[in-house]
Amino acid sequence: MTAEIDFNSTTENKKSRYEEFTRKLEALIYNEHDEVSVMANVSSALKETFGFFWVGFYIVKDNILSLGPFQGSVACYRIKKGNGVCGTAWERKETIVVPDVERFPGHIACSQLSKSEIVVPLLRQGDVAAVLDIDSDRLDSFDDTDKSCLEHICRLVSANIYSGQ
Ligand code: SME
Repeated sequence: MTAEIDFNSTTENKKSRYEEFTRKLEALIYNEHDEVSVMANVSSALKETFGFFWVGFYIVKDNILSLGPFQGSVACYRIKKGNGVCGTAWERKETIVVPDVERFPGHIACSQLSKSEIVVPLLRQGDVAAVLDIDSDRLDSFDDTDKSCLEHICRLVSANIYSGQ
């Protein structure tokens, strides 16, 4: 039960749009446990709904963040713990909102068009197993609504793909 879900949003209000998105997401990932498959569809759904410039996951493998499923232009393959926004979110085990990537020391620029960014960790048994990375081509795109709603979305995704492990 995936192909029938239309991720075009019917509302302009951001909070309502996330609520609508989350309801559809629950149907999209229901009973699906494969990490790559779920991340691929979640990236696609987020991009389609919100029109973000870049949406994707980096997955912790051999103590490094390795590029996972994404939607957008090509990106760097690996990020070390503590490096860039993704590696910092991994190290701190918390969401990082960057209103202006040029003002984030060590930001890794995969595209010059990226202006602001949010990175949300996905936890498996208390450890960071992956991060969701979203880039915008506009400054200051992400606020507390994005943070809390994307954290909720990441908890749903983590529960689906990591609960059996
Ligand atoms: N900007 C990220 C790197 C990944 S790309 O944005 C897709 C960072 O600083 O970690």
